[in-house]
Amino acid sequence: MLQLPAAARIDALRHEIERHDHAYYVLDAPSVPDGEYDRLFRELQALEQQYPELTSADSPTRRVGGRPLPEFAPVRHAVPMLSIRTETDTEPSGARAFDGRVRRELGLSDSDAMIEYATELKFDGLAINLRYEHGILVQAATRGDGETGEDVTQNVRTVHCIPLRLSGDALGIPAVLEVRGEIYMRRPDFDRYNARQRAFNRPTLVNPRNGAAGSIRQLDPAIAAQRPLSFYAYGLGEFRGWELPATHSGVLDALAALGFPVCVHRAVVQGADGLIAFHARIRALRDSLPFDIDGVVYKVNALSVQQRLGFVTREPRWAVAHKYPAEEALTIVEAIEVQVGRTGAITPVARLAPVFVGGVTVTNATLHNEDEVRRKDVRVGDTVIVRRAGDVIPEVVGVVLERRRVSSVDFSMPVVCPVCGSSIEKPADEAIARCTGGLFCPAQRKQALLHFASRRAMDVEGLGDKLVEQLVDAAIIKTPADLYKMGVLGLATLAGLERMAEKSAENLLAAIEQSKQTTLGRFIFALGIRNVGEATAKELARHFGTLDALMDADITVLQQVPDVGPVVAASVAHFFAEAHNREVVEQLRAAGVRWEEGAPAAMVSSPIAGKTFVLTGTLPTLTRDAAKDMIEALGGKVAGSVSKKTDFVVAGAQAGSKLEKAQQLGVSILDEGQFLEMVKV
Ligand code: IVH
Repeated sequence: MLQLPAAARIDALRHEIERHDHAYYVLDAPSVPDGEYDRLFRELQALEQQYPELTSADSPTRRVGGRPLPEFAPVRHAVPMLSIRTETDTEPSGARAFDGRVRRELGLSDSDAMIEYATELKFDGLAINLRYEHGILVQAATRGDGETGEDVTQNVRTVHCIPLRLSGDALGIPAVLEVRGEIYMRRPDFDRYNARQRAFNRPTLVNPRNGAAGSIRQLDPAIAAQRPLSFYAYGLGEFRGWELPATHSGVLDALAALGFPVCVHRAVVQGADGLIAFHARIRALRDSLPFDIDGVVYKVNALSVQQRLGFVTREPRWAVAHKYPAEEALTIVEAIEVQVGRTGAITPVARLAPVFVGGVTVTNATLHNEDEVRRKDVRVGDTVIVRRAGDVIPEVVGVVLERRRVSSVDFSMPVVCPVCGSSIEKPADEAIARCTGGLFCPAQRKQALLHFASRRAMDVEGLGDKLVEQLVDAAIIKTPADLYKMGVLGLATLAGLERMAEKSAENLLAAIEQSKQTTLGRFIFALGIRNVGEATAKELARHFGTLDALMDADITVLQQVPDVGPVVAASVAHFFAEAHNREVVEQLRAAGVRWEEGAPAAMVSSPIAGKTFVLTGTLPTLTRDAAKDMIEALGGKVAGSVSKKTDFVVAGAQAGSKLEKAQQLGVSILDEGQFLEMVKV
């Protein structure tokens, strides 16, 4: 490589790094691998250290943040930073009213041409004025009161997508150019930043907006440098030596060419209908954007027309912001209660002082689970940020700690279900606590009923979710046992339900009657015991033979059932330990639900019941699993190693140490053929 003099090399490095920054942060199209970028950056840093006289305010190395400031210096804006008339409007009427006002001001009649508007997003962050002199960023200031803001240049330099030097040929670089726009934080950056903070047990940001505003107003630029911020340009301040485009959209295009990020979600539209269409399009898009917006902005596109319209007080007549209902709002937590979900899952819910957010009045917000309540440290009496985006369930985003009162009260998880009084349990390795009330708990009833009636359980044809909903809500059914008492209500009651004609009521009663004759396996499955699926239910039925034997089995006995481990055994034992569940079972039996009971199947005729097998080597036709299934289906057990308790070893090709051990201990050894002969019943 040609050895350039230091100044030239520094210049070349700065340009190259700027190019990569622009590609990465503005165009979202990285142009160099990270490692290469780092190498260039370090080389530049080293050279600047070696030649301090060559350092410069526009060097990319200045983005890492300088010394902390005692306070921000005031900056008087060359052109006041005005605000914009903001209306909360979800209806088209707002756009028509704005267009009407503009037309009236301009003295246009209905027969005159439509007005052209530039439409864009209303970004939710911090307004900033960037001042470039001869193409170099010399100052960045907040809006302040519009006349005087604060000098936040050091912090703004750390925002990678803000050019430190304008791009383009020298001829097109204005002597002075002030670019206005919004500094904001993208949601993915916010999430990543917070995840990292959490991992290191450091404080998290409350929301992207506070993240952006708080970072820029940090006196220590090193802290600001760690916050991932972005920027979108949307307007101008002072400019000199620059040929102003004729339209606002032209200005934005020019800014993009100078290296500024300009949002792609903007349009040039005609008349009120164009505004309304844009409003609707963005509203639909809003939740999928990677950053928060709080509405749209309409601006008269022609700058000459803007000038004719001028200002009222501090707001331009040529622009309006239409805010969507805020997705976040502050409110007070009045109580923290728990809700019981369909599977018994206990969800803490914050009861809130009513607050209008996301277009509705919200009074409850989910806190997900106990760990989440702890992590967010939400207490009764706290002021919290509530978020409701789109149709999602409102949630508590975080606590405004500065407003915490001494009287705030910690949340504690109840030990019994608030709906049915059954105990609440939370396995140590799970996030979700559950009500153990099962069939007895009304909150779980609907789901339990649907499961009970499902095809592979009791198979009650025609009992769908709409019907279950009505039957439970009307308190016609409380437990599955009530299903079998419906006959006495008479057809009239049933046929009176929505979507229920007399004929379908008749059919339903017949289906219920028919379902009474079932099998023990189906019945156990229908009870909806946690962790007991269809196969396990069958296995339990086969093993115990009778329901009473199952209900009386303790955890140790339960674990003797093939495929029943400690988790399933505990679920079954817990279920039958609840008096409510036993009661429902009794009612079902009393109502006439029946099945054929027998002695435990495995004990009867199977030649291998209770025998222990060890499988080793490769069998000619059977897989290990198939052999295991056959043994277990007949009440035998399969063990992993050979001991004196082993009854048979089934050995195939390449059997090793297990076979030897069996020979030593004198255990019977079978080949596949002998084994198949033995299990043939
Ligand atoms: S134009 C004279 N355009 O909304 C008009 N403002 O009061 C100057 N904002 O805090 C503002 N997105 O920071 C404009 N596309 C956009 C905007 C926008 C967000 C903010 C701005 C200011 C407030 C307007």
